[in-house]
Amino acid sequence: MKFFIDTADVAEIKDLAATGMVDGVTTNPSLVAKTGRNFLEAIAEICDLVEGPVSAEVTATDFDTMLTEGRKLAKIATNIAVKVPLTWDGLKTCKALSDDGIMVNVTLCFSPSQALLAAKAGATFISPFVGRLDDIATEGMDLIAEIRQIYDNYEALSTEILVASVRHPRHVVESAKMGADVATLPPNVLRALANHPLTDKGLDAFLKDWAKTGQSIL
Ligand code: E4P
Repeated sequence: MKFFIDTADVAEIKDLAATGMVDGVTTNPSLVAKTGRNFLEAIAEICDLVEGPVSAEVTATDFDTMLTEGRKLAKIATNIAVKVPLTWDGLKTCKALSDDGIMVNVTLCFSPSQALLAAKAGATFISPFVGRLDDIATEGMDLIAEIRQIYDNYEALSTEILVASVRHPRHVVESAKMGADVATLPPNVLRALANHPLTDKGLDAFLKDWAKTGQSIL
């Protein structure tokens, strides 16, 4: 399973890339706004930092302007995945860009029918938002199971399931069990994946006992 980092914060990406766990990056207009940085400059910098796909989202809502924006974003680097919203104009843009060989991430997916359309439009990634579904008292992970089932029924559908709006490690574990291809993780969730109180407790006890021996390995 691939892990993308869900942030536009270059310092965070640098720090986490050093763990060897980062296979790509996703951004959205809200994450970019949080950095206060110039969008195009920040994206170019991120593309230099990671080899894998870097999602950069269009902000127009009509087909012609989305396509122009998408083509401009794709020119920033070869690892750009143009992010388009799941609207009819977004799907048309997805089809046009993927026909040109550009990676496309179709975002704001909240239903299996939307995911089916994105795959038919040639999306490289579909981004179902599990956390936002949980927020409205719906089981977000059920959507991942349904999309997996649908995509697995048709060999021609090669779109990767990119689990988005991830809130906690349980979302990641459930996604992996269901065979999702990618999860995009806020930095705090990636860090939390390694945490367990029994690991901390066990290490503390080992180090205390080691100190009693008065020895040193080096
Ligand atoms: C990533 O592609 C999505 O934009 C992001 O995961 C949304 O997360 P949120 O629901 O926490 O804003």
